[in-house]
Amino acid sequence: MDARTLKIEAARAALAHVESGMKLGIGTGSTAEEFVRLLAEKVGRGFSVIGVPTSERTAALCRELGVPQTTLEDTPRLDLTVDGADEIDPQLALIKGGGGALLREKIVAAASDRMIVIADETKLVETLGRFPLPIEVNRFGLKATEIAIASAAERLGLTGPVTLRRNDSEAFVTDGGHLILDASFGRIPDPEALSTALHAIPGVVEHGLFLGLARIAIVARNGGVQVLESNAQKRS
Ligand code: A5P
Repeated sequence: MDARTLKIEAARAALAHVESGMKLGIGTGSTAEEFVRLLAEKVGRGFSVIGVPTSERTAALCRELGVPQTTLEDTPRLDLTVDGADEIDPQLALIKGGGGALLREKIVAAASDRMIVIADETKLVETLGRFPLPIEVNRFGLKATEIAIASAAERLGLTGPVTLRRNDSEAFVTDGGHLILDASFGRIPDPEALSTALHAIPGVVEHGLFLGLARIAIVARNGGVQVLESNAQKRS
């Protein structure tokens, strides 16, 4: 199966967890987009759901395909979020934010009773960190924040380039108007410690470590779909 077919299979399996009348968090990225397409087909056949998109990009796709939308202002508690990931470890700790939507993704996941991650098997890792960790930062004080991130990481034994994400020659700007620093620290043996250290830096808005949020990962492989479960309590 090609990569797109695997993403569709994972999305299809996640759709089986969506019940009529649910309030959904709707993720961002190519896998989440397959979920939106399948959900839209079901909505077209009369299925009733309402969703909070995790990015302007996903909101536009939902509008185009007729998936009803709400906001966290009107619907502050959601039943289920379905989203992709850049990396998934055996405890279902994730790295997210490759598409730049990590802040809204984390707010929406935290406002949901459950989060299901959908992915193909290339996203599975033993230890997080092969994928550069996206860190959303305020524009003000960018250099100082970058230095603070590098220092905090070094105290945890993590080193590597921290680079400003760009779209061609322009800095990439998130839906919230912030910038993203991609931190290539390599293996992150203690994601909890790094999460705490990053949250302590004033210029850091949010980071792409999703710890204790995902309850289920639906991973599509050539041999079929595998469901991984976590019993971890919701943390950050
Ligand atoms: C968006 O900011 C990300 O967190 C995505 O969920 C993640 O990058 C996975 O995207 P793909 O499904 O396109 O790999």
